[in-house]
Amino acid sequence: MIIAVDGPTASGKGTIARALAAHFGLPHLDTGLLYRAVGRQVQLNGADPDDPEAALAACAFGNDLLDDAILRSEEVGGLASRVSVHPAVRRALYERQRAFALQAGGAVLDGRDIGTVIAPEAEVKLFVTASVAERARRRWQEMKARGIDVPLTAIERDIAARDARDMGREDAPLRPATDALVLDTTHLGREAAIEAAITAVLAKSARA
Ligand code: DC
Repeated sequence: MIIAVDGPTASGKGTIARALAAHFGLPHLDTGLLYRAVGRQVQLNGADPDDPEAALAACAFGNDLLDDAILRSEEVGGLASRVSVHPAVRRALYERQRAFALQAGGAVLDGRDIGTVIAPEAEVKLFVTASVAERARRRWQEMKARGIDVPLTAIERDIAARDARDMGREDAPLRPATDALVLDTTHLGREAAIEAAITAVLAKSARA
């Protein structure tokens, strides 16, 4: 079974994807991490993330980079969003994601275009979302817990900018697949959101 979990930044899609993978005993790939590695590699190369050739060259990042905690930073998230608009970058990362999706026994992948481009045949497609204000609040809380104090308004602005770029790009824009189940987590706690996702997968596989 392939489970595709797409959605905007800080929607809870990563948490839900990991929980689904653990619950159903499937391997999980956070595809955002690949784009983050490209963004970080561009930075290490001292290159411009908006330059398609420089971004493509950065797709040759070493696998060790995927374990670097710096990939989780807001700054690298922004760079990832910028390199991800280049079609050549998306093509370069395609095979790796596709092969992961097609492995025997199935997989859970989370990202922006899993249900639409990487695995359009996925048995279950979830589109996890929440309001900008709620996503900003969650991100703010997360950062505060790590000792980083950034004004909530600045986070809200960054999230809105990232949404606009991820949804507005020409190649594989962020949007729900026509057959995706939209899960709005604005008013759901972590456990309730996971529960709703598990129920959706079970309902879908019972129908298959
Ligand atoms: O999920 P994330 O915040 O780690 O993703 C970082 C950026 O990577 C996101 O703003 C857009 C890009 N991305 C993408 O274009 N396609 C994906 N499947 C995953 C991420």
